[in-house]
Amino acid sequence: MKVAIASSEVAPFAKTGGLADVVGALPKFLKELGCDVKVFVPRYNSIDDTRYDLHYEHTIGEMLIRVAGIPRPVHVLRTDLPGSSVQVYFVDCPQYFHRGRLYTADPDEDERFILFSKAVIETLQRLQWAPDVLHCNDWQTALIPIFLKDNYNWDKLFHRTATVLSIHNIAYQGSFPPSTVAKAELRPELFYSGGPLEMHGFVNFLKAGILHAEMISTVSETYSYEILSPLLGEGLDGVLRLRQHDLQGILNGIDTEEWNPATDHHLPIHYSSKTMKGKMQNKKFLLDNTTIQFKEDIPVIGIVSRFAGQKGFDLFADVAIELMQMNAQWVILGSGEERFEGLFRSLGSAMAHKVWAYIGFNNELAHLIEAGADMFLMPSHYEPCGLNQMYSLRYGTVPIVRKTGGLADTVLDWHEYSYRGLDIGNGFSFNDATGYALQASVGRALDVFFNDKATWKKIQRNGMNSDFSWKSSAAKYLLLYERAIMKRRGPG
Ligand code: ADP
Ligand code: GLC
Repeated sequence: MKVAIASSEVAPFAKTGGLADVVGALPKFLKELGCDVKVFVPRYNSIDDTRYDLHYEHTIGEMLIRVAGIPRPVHVLRTDLPGSSVQVYFVDCPQYFHRGRLYTADPDEDERFILFSKAVIETLQRLQWAPDVLHCNDWQTALIPIFLKDNYNWDKLFHRTATVLSIHNIAYQGSFPPSTVAKAELRPELFYSGGPLEMHGFVNFLKAGILHAEMISTVSETYSYEILSPLLGEGLDGVLRLRQHDLQGILNGIDTEEWNPATDHHLPIHYSSKTMKGKMQNKKFLLDNTTIQFKEDIPVIGIVSRFAGQKGFDLFADVAIELMQMNAQWVILGSGEERFEGLFRSLGSAMAHKVWAYIGFNNELAHLIEAGADMFLMPSHYEPCGLNQMYSLRYGTVPIVRKTGGLADTVLDWHEYSYRGLDIGNGFSFNDATGYALQASVGRALDVFFNDKATWKKIQRNGMNSDFSWKSSAAKYLLLYERAIMKRRGPG
């Protein structure tokens, strides 16, 4: 099967969050299952050409792609996804993608991803390579299905190409003023109140994708149900209910080579579920690089996150004083909204012996925290999948999470399952989106940590033995692709 995957982020080249991790890993596993895969990403100026051996695609040459009525010169570079022979194509248009960051609030943000989406299609034309499936991700590439079915419908090359749209986060929809219709050269008659492009008077890229892709997926099963309700559907629940039968939740896997405590090159000492001693040395190494004094018996709670409203740190703020009174140390890494950066920064300076906060993005530190912490906190209001809880489980770092989306699908609360007579719990979780519920869960985790070492080890081992590899998820994508192809081509 020939598969093209389009995404605004691909690890290790360009990453702000989990989307990059997913698109950096899934293609390798699809390849192992026999697919011929090509990946497409914008060439941001943060991508280091030399480091990744990007080279110019002479066979494609210069393309002129019209956006907002102006033909924009576009070139394509190429390299392989590290550790595989999957080809990655970089859409180069400096005017749009050399901005120092992946996403902007600039008035031409719509144009940037209209151009990218069209460039994916036009590169495929130049290559004369018709994918069986064109897999789009989030709003940035959600116009591709309508482009294929409408703007590029003249090209027979794509008549058998099915589209799949994966929703990694429904809160980000790509909503732009009506003038976007003309910039994208979408048919103006498709833009009307309640129509396939329109939402609250704006052009909504994600809505267009949901209505035009053959199949839709989300990144966990629970989230695929949650977004069908007004509570978490962010206004698109009604549209999604129309496509409910074509919507499937497939849990993200994790890159078990990148995130493996037995081989992780970011760690000073390796360890595994059989040789856990090394974990303590990582804890010491981590704390020795902070303001916190290493004490074997005091638990370290880690946080690695984008500081967005979604992530639930307002709940943390509500009980910050109570949490600080608990017998635990905190190592925090993240960046984003000022209110959370400020909260953690001030806790770090007021209680430097107990809290250390690094405001920024630091991949190596993220690995060290996973290895060195005893527990990991993710109090998300909603979480389409979440990767860090899976990394934590693999690193023997017990997750404390709010039971939502992918967190609910991966973290099994120790007490809940023990009560049912099952010793399969691998973490702690809470339902209510309140500071009190968060505090109570941290309290339960600390209680087991201090008073029942055998159970703590069991919880750690349960987590480390869970299987979140991409293998089974990639096989599910393959089935989803087959369904999409059937829909596009009809039976027979
Ligand atoms: P989201 O995509 O919503 O941010 P995920 O849990 O799916 O959440 O993925 C987040 C990814 O980004 C993880 O790989 C995590 O380690 C990484 N990450 C988030 N914030 C930082 C940071 N400040 N420094 C390094 N890595 C980070
Ligand atoms: C989004 C979601 C996150 C998910 C990631 C990858 O950023 O917020 O929960 O893990 O996409 O699918």
